[in-house]
Amino acid sequence: MTLDELRTAIEELERDLRERLEAVDGDAALEALRVDFLGRKGRVARLFKNLGQLDTSLRREAGRLLNALKETATEAVSQKEAEARRGRLEERLAAERIDMSLPGVHTSFGHLHPLTVVQREIESIFMKMGFSVASGPEIETEYYNFDALNIPVEHPARADWDTFYIDETTLLRPHTSPVQIRVMEQTEPPVRVICPGRCYRRDTQDATHSPVFHQIELLWVEEGLSLANLKYVLELFTQEFFGEGYTMLFSGDYFPFTEPSVQVHIKAPDADDWLEIMGAGMVDPAVLEAVGYDTETYTGFAFGLGIERMAMLKYGIEDIRVFLTNDLRFIRQF
Ligand code: DAH
Repeated sequence: MTLDELRTAIEELERDLRERLEAVDGDAALEALRVDFLGRKGRVARLFKNLGQLDTSLRREAGRLLNALKETATEAVSQKEAEARRGRLEERLAAERIDMSLPGVHTSFGHLHPLTVVQREIESIFMKMGFSVASGPEIETEYYNFDALNIPVEHPARADWDTFYIDETTLLRPHTSPVQIRVMEQTEPPVRVICPGRCYRRDTQDATHSPVFHQIELLWVEEGLSLANLKYVLELFTQEFFGEGYTMLFSGDYFPFTEPSVQVHIKAPDADDWLEIMGAGMVDPAVLEAVGYDTETYTGFAFGLGIERMAMLKYGIEDIRVFLTNDLRFIRQF
């Protein structure tokens, strides 16, 4: 082979390579092409075999030409490979593209139930006045629910708090008043607590009755407390919870655990009707004695209010059942 013949062969190979690179499609075809030209037995390697047949004086120049060929061929193929890689990446990016301008999927965070809102509001009003929050069990004993509250067995007042019994002496509490006893058993006076919680009664459900409902109990025992202190605390509370301008009325009532006992009513600034908001009174000495307090030194007052009732008055709700039926059209208004 002469040097010219070698040059021609090199040019031909380069042309072929360019044409085939142009037309190649897909990774497998590109790899086959690479092996065909640059593999150990490929066309470039085969041209190198001719070196041996050349005159020694020409070998140097021929070697240079062949090495240059090998370099350009390698470069051309790897350029094509890089191009293919870039193409694949672009395809993937296009497929995975996220349109940031599309509207997102709205996640609703939910919010507190109106009864929880009202309970927390009442708690915070009394906490500001220095009361702490206590709780007791919903499954209660007859002792805490009745006896210690001055309602002995056979006393007809037990019927007013008729409830569901778990067994002979265990029941679902019909009011939060037993928590008064539990707190006083654990604390020396002065005692200043409110006790929110769920209660149960043997009531048939209607617009104003529910067998499950919630109360908040208040108890303040200290030296020198009188009904006047109760009145002042309730006035502060009414003002904070309902707003300015309400008038308050105490009427006589009867609870075994208070003496005297009162029913508290309020009237809105322009309203004609009095609204009952809670039962209250001075803690009966028999109750203080039940927990071993010195009734010569200490007096106290207490009240119990229904959280549902407070929420109904505040928001103008007329049916107690809506609190527990899980109707979102109602719940979402709060
Ligand atoms: N426990 C009573 C009820 O459920 C409400 C009540 C009245 C609680 C007077 C009191 C109170 O603490 O002093 O009907």
